[in-house]
Amino acid sequence: MTDGVLRCLQGHSFDVAKQGYVNLLRGAAKFSADTAAMVAARADFLAAGHYAPIAGALAALAREKAPEATGGDPGCVVDIGGGTGYHLARVMSEFPDSEGILLDISKFAARRAARAHPRISAVVADAWDGLPLADGAASVVLNVFAPRNPAELRRILRPEGVLLVVTPRPDHLRELVEALGLLRVGEQKDERLTDRLSAHFTEVARERSRSTMTLDHKALPQLVGMGPNAWHQQSERLEERIARLPEPCDVTLSVTLTAYRPLI
Ligand SMILES: C[S@@+](CC[C@H](N)C(=O)[O-])C[C@H]1O[C@@H](n2cnc3c(N)ncnc32)[C@H](O)[C@@H]1O
Repeated sequence: MTDGVLRCLQGHSFDVAKQGYVNLLRGAAKFSADTAAMVAARADFLAAGHYAPIAGALAALAREKAPEATGGDPGCVVDIGGGTGYHLARVMSEFPDSEGILLDISKFAARRAARAHPRISAVVADAWDGLPLADGAASVVLNVFAPRNPAELRRILRPEGVLLVVTPRPDHLRELVEALGLLRVGEQKDERLTDRLSAHFTEVARERSRSTMTLDHKALPQLVGMGPNAWHQQSERLEERIARLPEPCDVTLSVTLTAYRPLI
């Protein structure tokens, strides 16, 4: 990179935005990109530490499963659909010699992620397209509540690398599903995930992280507004529903962390 311009070996050049991220999206932003309001809600909710158990469990699993450096090269830690960089920044603290690369389709997320950690580079890109990374560039790939393209994840991982996927369990946020009209998590989601990845990966570990979050009425609209529920809610109706809940409110955090090795 020179003078705020990123150049590839084929001679293409991409401007680095003044907020510190590179936009590699071809054409207009896609429908699935998180909006500025969703990203702000996520940043506030995560900053309060409510998902710290997920970040901690992910960092520990990454440390345990990451491969040794090959020829002195530790490989990158890549987060696909990484949002504000909260989870990747936590994982980077376990990998002092590695660079982190966060891809997200939302420029609002990428702006935040570029500031999340000194060793994170943020790129606006579509996870369903070819990923803008060389074959075998990554030793660890993270995918937390975000889309994934199995063939591309396999291509960017080195053969001894690890893919770590975090998915919600059916009892995640269970106290809020009825009360706030949230989307439900399907049963058998973990098995379906392993099936969908099976042409390229084999599962090597599966853990659950389950705890209780104590949320006030300020945190609840952030939680609803930061994810897919934001597309299905009207704010006045949500305010009425939240007003009927106790404050603070105990809410279940329940996710699965699954580790996969590439099939050789
Ligand atoms: C539920 S959020 C999770 C963010 C982050 N992993 C976290 O847990 O804080 C899903 C993220 O995926 C991003 N996303 C959605 N569709 C995408 C796509 N096609 N390619 C890349 N990112 C995408 C959204 O912009 C959003 O930041």
